[in-house]
Amino acid sequence: MSTIYDKYKDTFERFGIAKSGNKGVFDGEWKGSGPIIKSVNPVNNEVIAEVISGNVNDLNVALDKVNEAQKIWRDLPVPKRGEVLLSMRQALVDNLEPLGKVVALEMGKILPEGIGEIQEYVDILEYALGLSRMMKGSMIPSERPGHVMLETWNPLGTVGVISAFNFPVAVYGWNSAIALVTGNGVLWKPSPTTPLVSIAVTRLLEKTLHEHKLPTSLCSLVTGGTDVGSSLAADARAHVLSFTGSTKVGRQVGQVVQGRFGKSILELGGNNAIIVMEDCDLDLAARAILFAAVGTAGQRCTTTRRLIVHENIYDTLIERLIKAYGQVKIGDPLEEGVLCGPLHTQAAVSVYEETLKKVQEQGGKILFGGETLGGNFVKPTLTRVNKDMNIIKEEAFVPILHTMTFKTLDEAIAINNNVAQGLSSSIFTKNPETIFKWIGPAGSDCGIINVNIPTNGAEIGGAFGGEKATGGGRESGSDSWKQYCRRGTCTINYSGALPLAQGINFG
Ligand code: UN1
Repeated sequence: MSTIYDKYKDTFERFGIAKSGNKGVFDGEWKGSGPIIKSVNPVNNEVIAEVISGNVNDLNVALDKVNEAQKIWRDLPVPKRGEVLLSMRQALVDNLEPLGKVVALEMGKILPEGIGEIQEYVDILEYALGLSRMMKGSMIPSERPGHVMLETWNPLGTVGVISAFNFPVAVYGWNSAIALVTGNGVLWKPSPTTPLVSIAVTRLLEKTLHEHKLPTSLCSLVTGGTDVGSSLAADARAHVLSFTGSTKVGRQVGQVVQGRFGKSILELGGNNAIIVMEDCDLDLAARAILFAAVGTAGQRCTTTRRLIVHENIYDTLIERLIKAYGQVKIGDPLEEGVLCGPLHTQAAVSVYEETLKKVQEQGGKILFGGETLGGNFVKPTLTRVNKDMNIIKEEAFVPILHTMTFKTLDEAIAINNNVAQGLSSSIFTKNPETIFKWIGPAGSDCGIINVNIPTNGAEIGGAFGGEKATGGGRESGSDSWKQYCRRGTCTINYSGALPLAQGINFG
């Protein structure tokens, strides 16, 4: 019987990935002295290929190598850095579908979403290219005659990126593109369950840097387990540590990084809600909810987990959703027409079962779904809950949507905000008053506040991240690039005299 590797051999070989013996560390050279990790296809839990991961010693060496490379990179004029990013973009565009396929095979998301993730990396590289011509400081009025004050933005050094299984490429893309354009080097520690695509991406970056005659260790990779991740968090050579993952681990990472006065960018759990107002376009809302709750089999940080519906339209909307859920094709993510692939691991199937058990124990009902389908497959599920149940305060990374009703906008906003997490939120309405209240001081307390679109599928141009237990970090667009920089406040005296600030006369 042919293996999954054999079936997609051309794709894997394109990125130099063999069935075994793949080296999972790159620091200018490919190596690996840690344990062997297996990349598994979530469709049937068959091993796709094996990787020799890195250990703490590999990480130590790689951090020094990134540092050496960064010293060269930081001296490049910023628009020259932009040219290199443009070449990286081209390498990704040339490999859009094959890379998307590796994501689909290894993570389990459907192919269009796998390709979408590579596109997201392409988009952020374009954004970073633009920044390379626009990333500017400012001149500040000085209170002293013959003085000028400037604000400068320089690289911090090395950005460590610990990424999660669910977006094994895009999140690295956001961080690395912005880290690079601001003049930093990057050390990537991907999720241990998605090593293959990190190797594939790193090979493309290696080739591009080589073509530009730059030290390839600028974009280093250390696959590995928690020992590598926690060493990276604790290491002062990682000036910025960008972590995507659970709130539980993120809380520890944040404290460790703070303990050494490093900078952390935390993108942790979400417990995102959609509010559906009585005056909305119900058809639009139903379509958005389907993508928001079932897309990526409920495994996005931005997945909608709570649906807060005006009591007058609740029955109509649920009826539509049940119909739409019933038509979702579940299956192999590489098969055309499939909208919902498997969960990433068996452990996630247990989370699905546990969550539904608790829903029932706490007095909730299952309206649709609620079944495991064998292997890692589960049926996307709708529940009926009440807003005070404990179970809806937790983030379960599976396709379960808890539905509830409200009477007034204030009540709906209070429900939206009444969870520890604060990543994404959305409201469906046609009323401008509602919209402006929602985005104002008494509105949603999340980092992402949408109107008439799903909670997921954010564009790269805005800052991405959330408040409260989501960690407070912002990645990707807007002025997130500033987090990858040290800000210099420079006061230059060209007067020949020495007037002191605040009018102080000293001696
Ligand atoms: C994540 O789930 O960690 O907004 C990132 C979205 C994607 C990124 C999700 N652009 O759904």
